[in-house]
Amino acid sequence: MKIDADVLEAIRSARCEGAALYLTGQLEDRLYRRVNLALSAVGGRWDRRKRGHIFPANAADDIAGLLAEREVTTDSERGYFPTPPALVDEILDLADLQAGQEVLEPSAGTGAMAERIADRGGVVDCVELDPGRAEIIRSQGYARQVAVADFLTLPVSARYDRVVMNPPFAKQLDIRHVQRALRCVRPNGLLVAVMFAGLAFRTNALAADFRSQVREARGTITPLPDHWFKGIRTVLTVIPVRPQLSQLAGRRTAEVPVSEQRASQEGLF
Ligand SMILES: C[S@@+](CC[C@H](N)C(=O)[O-])C[C@H]1O[C@@H](n2cnc3c(N)ncnc32)[C@H](O)[C@@H]1O
Repeated sequence: MKIDADVLEAIRSARCEGAALYLTGQLEDRLYRRVNLALSAVGGRWDRRKRGHIFPANAADDIAGLLAEREVTTDSERGYFPTPPALVDEILDLADLQAGQEVLEPSAGTGAMAERIADRGGVVDCVELDPGRAEIIRSQGYARQVAVADFLTLPVSARYDRVVMNPPFAKQLDIRHVQRALRCVRPNGLLVAVMFAGLAFRTNALAADFRSQVREARGTITPLPDHWFKGIRTVLTVIPVRPQLSQLAGRRTAEVPVSEQRASQEGLF
């Protein structure tokens, strides 16, 4: 997003003190909203208590690029749509999150989901591509680990009881993120993801294969009301991860559900 001259002027005349930036004078509403959008694109968050914008490290350094280039990439241009708290609560209920469970949030943003997972007693690990957002999570101290990384290139292993996520949607990245995240879930674990509604009706191979994957896992894809993400149509995907054959073989026959015994014998999965 190009930055207009009046926005640039308001930011240039702000006062920076360490991590804080204080706008000078009273900006009219429309100008303030555009200034706020530009500041948040470079990591500044309005802090009502401090009556200023707070940056992850040093405000003057963080706005230097914006002032020099007169351009920023906004949160929505980057695919950043934080999950509203009431929806997070619905998602965590659906995930049947229990205290002590290990949970992965692989596109964690500023921690809208991760913080509530920790509030409910979950042990949460976060991955976030944007260093400023990751720093916000890290500074609050509720996450066990915070990795600044591209989740699509991180090594994965099936070690989490739950994965809860709202990944980026552009170019069907949500499907790729969820498919990778499924490999992080332990047998008998569960993944719950906010995804773009297009996956329910797109006819390309990626979307069609994903729907089959969800069906085979006896998962669900449920439309969400449009109001949660400002009119962007989304769905909630729930995918249970069933035990592997090797684990079923380790259990006494009587413990294995009949349908699974038959499927194992017939080599269906
Ligand atoms: C739709 S936002 C959701 C944030 C958070 N999960 C929430 O629910 O509020 C998606 C987040 O994924 C991050 N992201 C995008 N690509 C990523 C990647 N390859 N690896 C990790 N995080 C990524 C973005 O920076 C953004 O913060």
